[in-house]
Amino acid sequence: MAEFLEGLKRTKMCGEFRASDIGKKVVAMGFVAKYRNLGGIQFVDLRDRTGIVQVRFSASDYPEVYAKSEAIRNEFVIAVEGTVVARGEKNINTALPTGEIEIEASALKILSEAETTPFNIVEDVKAGEQLRLKYRYLDLRRGALQKNLLIRDKIIRATMDYMSKKGFVYIETPMLGKSTPEGARDYLVPSRVHPGEFYALPQSPQLYKQLLMISGMDRYYQIAKCFRDEDLRANRQPEFTQIDIEMSYVDDIEDVMKVAEGLIRNIFKVAIGYDVPKKIKRIKYAEAMERFGSDKPDTRFGLELINLTKLVKKIGTTFSVFANATKKGYSVRAINAKGLARYTRKEIDALQDVVKEYGAKGLAYIALKPEGVSSPIAKFFDEESFGQLIAAAGGETGDLILFVADKDKVVFDALGALRLAIAKKENLIPEGTYDMLWVTHFPLYDYNEEEKRLEAMHHPFTSPLNSDIKYIEKKPLKVRAKAYDFVINGQEAGGGSIRIHSRELQEKMFRRINLSEQDIKERFGFFTEAFRYGVPPHGGLAFGLDRLVMLLSGTDNIKDVIAFPKNQSAVCLMSDAPSTVEKKQLDELAIDIRK
Ligand code: AMO
Ligand code: AMP
Repeated sequence: MAEFLEGLKRTKMCGEFRASDIGKKVVAMGFVAKYRNLGGIQFVDLRDRTGIVQVRFSASDYPEVYAKSEAIRNEFVIAVEGTVVARGEKNINTALPTGEIEIEASALKILSEAETTPFNIVEDVKAGEQLRLKYRYLDLRRGALQKNLLIRDKIIRATMDYMSKKGFVYIETPMLGKSTPEGARDYLVPSRVHPGEFYALPQSPQLYKQLLMISGMDRYYQIAKCFRDEDLRANRQPEFTQIDIEMSYVDDIEDVMKVAEGLIRNIFKVAIGYDVPKKIKRIKYAEAMERFGSDKPDTRFGLELINLTKLVKKIGTTFSVFANATKKGYSVRAINAKGLARYTRKEIDALQDVVKEYGAKGLAYIALKPEGVSSPIAKFFDEESFGQLIAAAGGETGDLILFVADKDKVVFDALGALRLAIAKKENLIPEGTYDMLWVTHFPLYDYNEEEKRLEAMHHPFTSPLNSDIKYIEKKPLKVRAKAYDFVINGQEAGGGSIRIHSRELQEKMFRRINLSEQDIKERFGFFTEAFRYGVPPHGGLAFGLDRLVMLLSGTDNIKDVIAFPKNQSAVCLMSDAPSTVEKKQLDELAIDIRK
């Protein structure tokens, strides 16, 4: 039978007891993490969010309490009254902050019994992720996950303190809104009152925050829920959270970057006591791609890309794949994996699988083994040219040079991924450091190969660089944007831009990405209309809160930092969402499900 508290209050939380409490009469409550009955003495590890304290029940000192304690099982919720005593010298547990003491129980209340849990709730949990997601509330009893949620809380508080100090106002924006153009698929919510019409859950508060600048709110921020129906990855969830920021009277990217850096500095300091260096590196998009094959480069290790296109063109080759890649928009690039000529055929095949995943058709290599050169492409070059190729890649005995030839985009993606794969395999990435940088000067437009049309690389409200406005009509791919991404350890932690604040330029931008007058009116009519009535120059950015928590808590799984996450197929295994609904509900919404 479960007992009531009857006015009993905790002295402090389990993990907070210390040697300074010795001799005090105390009350502690928590979950039973472990019990060991040694016959006449029973030890219980009592657990709460703050940690574990050991409780001792003794048959000789308190026979009735001891007898009652024999019913205790794992995950029972109990309250004990007792005295804090020192553990004997040899029983001190230095691994626990409470390890010098234990509570000698003089009273016990069993507040709630627990059935045997579907898996053992221990730190090095053995159960698979499926089962743990189904019983998420049990998995969340583990210290490791609780620690992540506590870091999350600290980040949110550090954000609120900082933003408030800098004059930003917390404003909530609607969940039920109009489809926004962040580029993913929308989650739609049918309207009952307007059959056949839908709200869209926000992919971000982008339009609203700009409208708040037009409202004169001047400086806005929000811990904002965002929804994107896109392919999920280790750092993506369909429902995630942004630290969303927008500010008025800024025209230069520096103004926003300064606030963002200040915020990041405060977050790292408050959440984990880490001092972010005074100067944060910057790299232009074009250079990031050239050197690292990525717009979110991990610069904690080398393995930089080497462009060999010009050389291949000059020396010539009978390898058609390389020869064909010397035309415009294509390239031959390489990575020199220093000292890895020893890789076996199997290891090289595994690397080839990596680049193939990113669209490359193959991976050519030159292994400069001490006993001789091994390369499937040697036959396509005369000896002198082959030597030039090796020299251009900085090849020395012991090196493995890896080549991809294809469209630039494929080459960058493939070699960018290959860099990371080799660095991981060879443990080249130093741990416990934070490598932060800004990527700037992004292209304003992207060419969508499938749809054969231009699209906005970031979103269509991003301002072009003043100096590049002249190229919008004739050379749009040359136009660079006042956009910036914040990258930490090769992850895109945040991004934003200075916005277009002139109506003419905004409409020109919409037209350039082939939005018809009709589209513009239907999708953003309310937005463009607002531009008629006075618009302060403005800009902002959004950090991915979940990603910041991941980086600060050292996990590479986004599910570890969200209380109730979805799995890879966007299902909440605990509640079984999404699920079917009653016919009556569908009827009210005028929805028929296609069979
Ligand atoms: P963007 O689309 O770059 O910009 O998103 C900003 C940041 O949000 C995080 N993020 C995600 N995190 C988890 N799961 C996802 N599916 C996911 N998608 C994005 C990333 C990213 O850097 N409105 C603009 C911001 C602006 O221009 O001010 C925007 O949403 O960390
Ligand atoms: P082959 O003569 O067809 O065996 O190709 C020689 C080498 O070139 C093999 O190691 C292939 O994996 C590699 N290869 C094929 N296509 C490409 C490509 N697009 N870029 C780089 N290497 C390639």
